[in-house]
Amino acid sequence: MKIPARLQNLVAEGLIDGVVRQLKSGKEADVYVVRCGDETCAAKVYKEAHKRSFRQAVDYTENRKVRNSRQARAMAKGTAFGRQQQEAAWQSAEVDALRRLAAVGVRVPRPGNFLDGVLLMELVTDAHGDAAPRLNDLDFSAEDAERHHATLIDEVVRMLCAGVIHGDLSEFNILLAADGPVIIDLPQAVDAAGNNHAPRMLLRDVDNLRSFFGRYAPALLPTQYGPEIWSLYAGGLLAPGMPLSGRYEPQLGAVDLSGVLREIEDARLEEAARLQRMAG
Ligand SMILES: Nc1ncnc2c1ncn2[C@@H]1O[C@H](COP(=O)(O)OP(=O)(O)O)[C@@H](O)[C@H]1O
Ligand SMILES: [Mg+2]
Repeated sequence: MKIPARLQNLVAEGLIDGVVRQLKSGKEADVYVVRCGDETCAAKVYKEAHKRSFRQAVDYTENRKVRNSRQARAMAKGTAFGRQQQEAAWQSAEVDALRRLAAVGVRVPRPGNFLDGVLLMELVTDAHGDAAPRLNDLDFSAEDAERHHATLIDEVVRMLCAGVIHGDLSEFNILLAADGPVIIDLPQAVDAAGNNHAPRMLLRDVDNLRSFFGRYAPALLPTQYGPEIWSLYAGGLLAPGMPLSGRYEPQLGAVDLSGVLREIEDARLEEAARLQRMAG
């Protein structure tokens, strides 16, 4: 196909040899199938900030590492330079997260080059070599649902042990490759340490897995992997591959009341923001 404008520079640099087709056009990015040498890859082209939806919310960017104080001041002031820095930080967050996760063995697309707001990565494929479907595009037997749920809970634990929470994990951001589920779409990944919203994000990610797979395997619906994982993490006891029960007994004596109130206030603010987005 004709080379889209945003990919022309990568072709000129020799990073891309040709564009096969557009795979998806999302709210926040366009994804193309491209040829890189004798490999077929995915090219994710991030949209400009003003064309994107809402995910650049404070709770995702809180405590995101910036490289220097000039950058931090500019971002806080919202100057043109600051906005440009913020944009760059948002776009590079995904390649950073992919590299961190691939390094600890989480099944994510292998990241390649990142240039001019375009991320090149492994094209996740099904058994026929075609772009893999999202979980949402498929149906599952109860047995397969339980198996994929267990695999993904394990991946969530592995990610959290590496300090990363996906933040938007759902059946829309998990592909089913020939070798099992692959987690994608991480520009909003949250640093687990030092982010007040981390527990809520983790619980929401795990809840999404439970309600999706619970449609096919109702035995999953009463499980409590989210609170179990978070309490092990908070207690410094979480380790990759550890067996979990899916049960959680809150420690009645040890309720962190200020923490609970903070969670309630966070949920209220989130709901208000959601209503405002829907209105606007
Ligand atoms: N590495 C990849 N391999 C195969 N398909 C991909 C890959 N990355 C993205 N896609 C496809 O493109 C869609 C959009 O990508 P995603 O990263 O979720 O961006 P967004 O949802 O922000 O637009 C995904 O649902 C998936 O179908
Ligand atoms: Mg997505």
